[in-house]
Amino acid sequence: MVDSPDAAVSETLIITTRSEAETVDVGRAVGAVLEPRDVVLLSGELGAGKTRLVEGMTRGIEADAETRSPTFVLVNEYVGRLMLAHCDLYRLSGPEETGELGLDDYLARDAALAVEWPERARCEFPPEALEIQMGFGDEPDDRVLTATATGEAAIRLLKAMRDSVGIGQHAGGGR
Ligand SMILES: Nc1ncnc2c1ncn2[C@@H]1O[C@H](COP(=O)(O)OP(=O)(O)OP(=O)(O)O)[C@@H](O)[C@H]1O
Ligand SMILES: [Mg+2]
Repeated sequence: MVDSPDAAVSETLIITTRSEAETVDVGRAVGAVLEPRDVVLLSGELGAGKTRLVEGMTRGIEADAETRSPTFVLVNEYVGRLMLAHCDLYRLSGPEETGELGLDDYLARDAALAVEWPERARCEFPPEALEIQMGFGDEPDDRVLTATATGEAAIRLLKAMRDSVGIGQHAGGGR
């Protein structure tokens, strides 16, 4: 439901992947339609699969470099069809440090952003983003991805996620 004419549209999708490879495939589908200044925020506990999803995104933009854990490097750059800046903010001690990451500079340079542990720097990000919450499922290799897209650009990404798995378990309208 859209309350006012300028309220951003939003959509939600929940999908379950059954293996690391399936998560990489979902990420690849998102990467394939990624455009400059798209923002993907990835939440979920340690080992939920956030980095595996970003790895897929780097394949989707046909980046040269392999994904490596950014745990000790807060931002990794992947350059293919466009630049994807991948940030893992887990080790940030507080939001005050995030200005030093230069995330705004990446967006100004027409990169796309994928951010793990964005809640450590919530105030930094544009409101229009694809937020993906990753959690564990029934089986050890199940991962449940709850994606909320705000704004038309993010909805393009969400649709790519949906198409990558056929029809998701649930697709809902905006709030
Ligand atoms: N369906 C699945 N999707 C993604 N990863 C899976 C899946 N099933 C098992 N795995 C395993 O879970 C682990 C996910 O690790 P990953 O580094 O992507 O997590 P993360 O969410 O980035 O954690 P962190 O918060 O520590 O960065 C990998 O070891 C991967 O092989
Ligand atoms: Mg990670």
